[in-house]
Amino acid sequence: MKKTILVTGGAGFIGSNFVYLLLDERKDYKVVCVDALTYAANIHTLNKAMQNPNFKFYKEDIRNREGIFKIFEDEKPDIVVNFAAESHVDRSIENPAIFLETNILGTQVMMDACRKYGVERFHQVGTDEVYGDLPLDRPDLFFHEDTPIHTSSPYSTSKASADLLALAYYRTYGLPVTISRCSNNYGPYQFPEKLIPLMINNATQNKPLPVYGEGLNVRDWLYVKDHCYGILAVLEKGKVGEVYNLGGHNEKANIEIVKIILQELGKPESLITHVADRKGHDRRYAIDPSKANKELGWGPTTMFNEGIKLTIQWYKDNMDWMRECTSGEYMQYYQKMYANR
Ligand code: NAD
Ligand code: DAU
Repeated sequence: MKKTILVTGGAGFIGSNFVYLLLDERKDYKVVCVDALTYAANIHTLNKAMQNPNFKFYKEDIRNREGIFKIFEDEKPDIVVNFAAESHVDRSIENPAIFLETNILGTQVMMDACRKYGVERFHQVGTDEVYGDLPLDRPDLFFHEDTPIHTSSPYSTSKASADLLALAYYRTYGLPVTISRCSNNYGPYQFPEKLIPLMINNATQNKPLPVYGEGLNVRDWLYVKDHCYGILAVLEKGKVGEVYNLGGHNEKANIEIVKIILQELGKPESLITHVADRKGHDRRYAIDPSKANKELGWGPTTMFNEGIKLTIQWYKDNMDWMRECTSGEYMQYYQKMYANR
């Protein structure tokens, strides 16, 4: 009999890539997607999945206990992977409340449903931002799974809270929990509020590219499909109660990323505009993935110079998708965040 895997946030960036990976490469799963379709989702992302008999979609909010419990009653998932979250640091600085509600209380609702109906695994999709940041002048330092939690933004604090709650549910109730903490993802279907798709979108329209501060902050970039393979590896080979860091030792300063995008698109560097820095801006993220390498046999397969080309080409081929994302609410958001920056 097919196992049922319930994926929350599957209409968003990483969740949708994970849904497609399952439908393509794990045909023995029935995939149930639960997503509230917030501003960050684009339902057209799931067009192809909707035609697959192994896929079912529910528009539901993970904060809605009654609605979530009903889905569990109907679908009886064996495995739950919780991607659903408010995910953008800049928005969390403007309005923290929704981050606490969705990322902490929504996670609690999902785990309560798992306790009530019983699952073989609850996987929490976490972030390296829970470890805070590293200094720019200490390239020898990395985030390990036992690096102390030390958050900077309301977003990272809400994600750290969810991780701690998940570990508490493991210890207190014996819920079979695993957690992965990944570095920055890039690839198809990423909402254009985040660095890479925002810069691709602006550059293709010859609009200014807003680099925060001097652009020297460093992020550790991983192609989204590699993150999805990492989560699968944790589900299939990971130990309950454990945390696994996922990353590919691919650190780049923001300004380097922006220049690569301009070069790939054949656009001039004069489009770069330095704007006011993010409040509390984390300096450097850098994951040590050796535990996942050793215990799960996982490692990235798409190198950055290949992944960024694939990503830019995907956005060029999917301009309609980009236009859907950037109409309506996005215009107001962009105006508010960047107009007088
Ligand atoms: P995203 O913002 O692109 O997608 C989030 C999805 O969750 C959207 O489809 C949205 O509609 C849905 N959602 C939001 N609130 C919801 C709610 N209350 N109920 C149901 N659905 C809701 O985010 P993403 O970049 O795909 O990130 C997915 C997960 O991975 C998040 O938990 C994030 O913290 C984590 N993560 C992201 C990255 C990254 O680089 N993007 C890296 C590490 C970890
Ligand atoms: O590290 C994992 C995290 O990566 C995830 O948990 C988050 O969900 C995800 O959004 C991402 O967080 P960042 O804050 O690192 O990503 P963002 O794309 O917002 O920014 C990347 C860097 O680029 C950061 O240093 C800020 C900078 N930046 C961003 C934007 C949107 C700019 O310089 N200009 C911009 O317009």
